[in-house]
Amino acid sequence: MRGYFGIGVEGISKAYNLGAVLRTAHAFGASFAFSIDAFHKAREIDRTDTSRSSTHLPYYEWDSLDDFVLPKGCSLVGVELVEDSIELPSFRHPTNCAYILGPEMGSLSEPVQEACDYIVKIPTKFCINVSLAAALTLYDRTISMGGYPDRPVRPGGPDLDAVSNWQPAGYRRKARAAKS
Ligand SMILES: C[S@@+](CC[C@H](N)C(=O)[O-])C[C@H]1O[C@@H](n2cnc3c(N)ncnc32)[C@H](O)[C@@H]1O
Repeated sequence: MRGYFGIGVEGISKAYNLGAVLRTAHAFGASFAFSIDAFHKAREIDRTDTSRSSTHLPYYEWDSLDDFVLPKGCSLVGVELVEDSIELPSFRHPTNCAYILGPEMGSLSEPVQEACDYIVKIPTKFCINVSLAAALTLYDRTISMGGYPDRPVRPGGPDLDAVSNWQPAGYRRKARAAKS
């Protein structure tokens, strides 16, 4: 997959939610994870983050938005159920970005929302758990940017020939360019 992404949370208070976000970030191949203004018992993170993600991917703990720094060229994508946010299934994910989610009680703060380049929402009737929202956002990035073959019209997987001939999107472009 081209590019990179990081994921973090603002104002999180439950260590097990942060642990679940870190584990999800690690599993989906995040380049970094972060929190802003988190308050929790750090030791409890490992109860849900059994993959000990912070030993595998950089984890930044920022005290406030003022301290928060992103790599050059990295967009900030808020994940929040607010009226004028973009529906996630219609969102084109930036190649390089960091996703930020809100606290268990409340929403992304106004200053963080203002700092975001985009805000996306998952089409649910009401708010879901923050770590589930993180997982769905990263799953959406994976299925839309992972270069998977198109889904077949009929139920089931793609036909076996298509699978054995399938190459990642970048490879297909290069192969076409080499032929012409
Ligand atoms: C449990 S929700 C916060 C509680 C919620 N604001 C409420 O009081 O109803 C925690 C975070 O998960 C994310 N989240 C949950 N459901 C979401 C959705 N459907 N779309 C986008 N983000 C969502 C947001 O980042 C949110 O701030």
